[in-house]
Amino acid sequence: MDSIYGWEWFVKQFESISKIDLTAYKRPQMERRINSFMKLVNGGDYNKFIALIRDDIGIYNRFIEHLTINVSEFFRNPSQWEVLEKEIIPALLKERSPLRVWSAGCSTGEEVYSLAMLLRERFPGKADRILASDIDNEVMEKAAIGLYAIKAVQSLPENYKSRYFAKDGENYRLVDEIKKMVTFQKHDLLKSTFPQEFDLILCRNVVIYFTEESKQNLYRKFAGSLRSRGVLFIGSTEQIFQAQELGFKSIATFFYQKT
Ligand SMILES: C[S@@+](CC[C@H](N)C(=O)[O-])C[C@H]1O[C@@H](n2cnc3c(N)ncnc32)[C@H](O)[C@@H]1O
Repeated sequence: MDSIYGWEWFVKQFESISKIDLTAYKRPQMERRINSFMKLVNGGDYNKFIALIRDDIGIYNRFIEHLTINVSEFFRNPSQWEVLEKEIIPALLKERSPLRVWSAGCSTGEEVYSLAMLLRERFPGKADRILASDIDNEVMEKAAIGLYAIKAVQSLPENYKSRYFAKDGENYRLVDEIKKMVTFQKHDLLKSTFPQEFDLILCRNVVIYFTEESKQNLYRKFAGSLRSRGVLFIGSTEQIFQAQELGFKSIATFFYQKT
């Protein structure tokens, strides 16, 4: 006999705790992700796991992050994009042009397309080609299509929305002019050899599940991928410890320059 603590039961309980309706997501992917997390924290079955996330806010938060691991946004953390626009890119352009740029862990494309729009709008002709990579082919396929829900584009500045998106049914389609600036490539940041000679690398909200050792290896490799005085832009909950040893110095919060 099936346990009463099956999937449907879990979905109801989880919604009562988190307000997240899992039925709005594809069940196989959700089940896979949840089961792998349950194994990781020894949650056992759904019944024990619900008790665990209800009682332990730390595990609950990790679980939410786990579930939303592909989540991205246009111009996520706007104040940091302002630093990028006003300080980092102009300084880089004093050294070199056009710039070589890489968005590592690009997910469904919001980050790399934000960058492409910013470059096209504020620095035309100064960086026309951007590399975007992710370990997950599915998200990159979506990124390459460039179709976004209204909710995703609503916080974009009006001029960006009107200039770079066309209404497509219920959604917004990014124009080819911006899509063409980006090349998507599958790349595992924990394994692959790294492309070289970048002026700017964005790797934001990707390393949440990486061990400290993997993070250090990653940042060391990024230092190897950057040109002298190139810049790494990381996520708003992230920080590089011992930056100096890894070949970086902090030049603004969330921005590290290759030394
Ligand atoms: C939360 S999204 C971040 C998207 C975007 N950078 C942003 O900040 O909005 C994290 C992305 O990292 C990717 N990722 C996770 N592990 C990776 C790895 N080992 N190599 C490359 N990408 C990875 C995931 O597939 C996911 O698309």
